[in-house]
Amino acid sequence: MYNDNPTIDGLKKTIDTNRQGEVFEQLDPNKQKYSKHFYIESYGCAMNFSDSEIVASILSKEGFGPTRDMEIADLILINTCSIREKAEDTVRKRLRIYDKVKKKRPSTMVGVLGCMAERLKKKFLEEEKLVDMVVGPDAYRDLPKLIADVEDGDKGINVILSREETYADITPMRLMSNGVSAFISIMRGCDNMCSFCVVPFTRGRERSRNAFTVIAEAQDLFDKGYREVNLLGQNVDSYKWLNPETEETVSFAELLIMVAKIDPRLRVRFSTSHPKDINDDVIFAIRDHHNICNYIHLPIQSGNSRILKKMNRTYDRPWYEAKVKRIYEILPDCAISSDIITGFCSETEEDHQDTLSMIEWAKYSMCYMFFYSERPGTLAAKKYEDDVDLKTKKRRLQEVIDLQREVAIVHNAKDVGKTFEVLIEGDSKKSPDFFKGKNSQNKMVIFPKVEKYSKGDYVDVKIDRNNSATLFGSIVDPDA
Ligand code: 5AD
Ligand code: SF4
Repeated sequence: MYNDNPTIDGLKKTIDTNRQGEVFEQLDPNKQKYSKHFYIESYGCAMNFSDSEIVASILSKEGFGPTRDMEIADLILINTCSIREKAEDTVRKRLRIYDKVKKKRPSTMVGVLGCMAERLKKKFLEEEKLVDMVVGPDAYRDLPKLIADVEDGDKGINVILSREETYADITPMRLMSNGVSAFISIMRGCDNMCSFCVVPFTRGRERSRNAFTVIAEAQDLFDKGYREVNLLGQNVDSYKWLNPETEETVSFAELLIMVAKIDPRLRVRFSTSHPKDINDDVIFAIRDHHNICNYIHLPIQSGNSRILKKMNRTYDRPWYEAKVKRIYEILPDCAISSDIITGFCSETEEDHQDTLSMIEWAKYSMCYMFFYSERPGTLAAKKYEDDVDLKTKKRRLQEVIDLQREVAIVHNAKDVGKTFEVLIEGDSKKSPDFFKGKNSQNKMVIFPKVEKYSKGDYVDVKIDRNNSATLFGSIVDPDA
């Protein structure tokens, strides 16, 4: 889940994973004393935010504590995204800010992590003189050694991709969490070769994490008071872990059920699903377990079958429609969201109209929408001409955004009068007199506080109005 498009206002507020360049909100929950400090910013997908928490955990064992103030940091890290050109531009701009800090305090180390580090490798050190360290997504265990190299006056680089690394044994330091909801990374990498996408090159081959460590992490979170886990992977439905002791494989549906069984009060979400991989077992798991949320992020990318073929998505429009029908048939209350790209190579006005009609047909509750950005090294960059001009790409994107807003308003208006179970995540940003929380369908709900309830509680909220991004209502108090 990504969002680097400022034109999509409103959506940013609804999706917690949609954080742009977020700085740790809370300091070390363990309240340890540290002699050295790191400052980290994360960009891009939820996986990057989750990785930053793994990095924080590795660094804390080396005596580095987190700080929100880059001016006092001994180590400044930026966890980068390469998915679109704009994401990379943002990172370059941030480096200019770090440059100023480093000029004032030359001993400060600067490290680049994540997808851009992997994509640019040594070139990064050559292009950006202030950067001391370039560390790819599979090399975070090497950070202590790389820091030592830099302290010895060298530059540090490790961008080796792994076929095994899942950081299974590392307990993330939950620096960005609200104490209610947390990410659990269940797999890494991606074996799909969508022709527009750089991720298979920056995050490497797909590998699944030991299921027992996933369950242990979820149990630990529940014991610490968390009430929602979000199982993360580029392609969660192809999760498959071979238990070496029993030689049995654990599928994604099985993993979901195992996590759901920890406690009915622990909500389970997951992201992202590839339409070709999500199967009936997953859909039935959602139906049969109240705490597996009624929400599926099912990116279509384009509503036109010819474009989908060029994108190498491995399905066409009728196939996707059949999948959506199946989901609504088994889960009539399920909310489905999507990712959409406008202006992919050779997209005509008719093809674009197909994307618009798809949005109306699928009745998405929400979409992440982007215009196509050619990425070096991808199949599309090699094979196809980026022949839709920027103005047209942006105009089509705006049409997609406008239509999706209307579709979302209708989707949300259908919830008016209904009562939903909402998990309280904290105070509403606009007023301390209101709580915010989500329903099972991943919709943000705002409602007036009632004293006996607090963060982490479930309440029934009756909806009385909506806009395109939010539902508003009040608590139905069983004791009133
Ligand atoms: N240009 C625009 N959007 C892209 N995405 C991935 N690669 C590109 C690109 N080159 C979008 C897709 C994907 C989401 C994570 O980002 O919609 O699902
Ligand atoms: Fe990229 Fe496609 Fe893999 Fe998603 S499924 S990360 S869009 S290659």
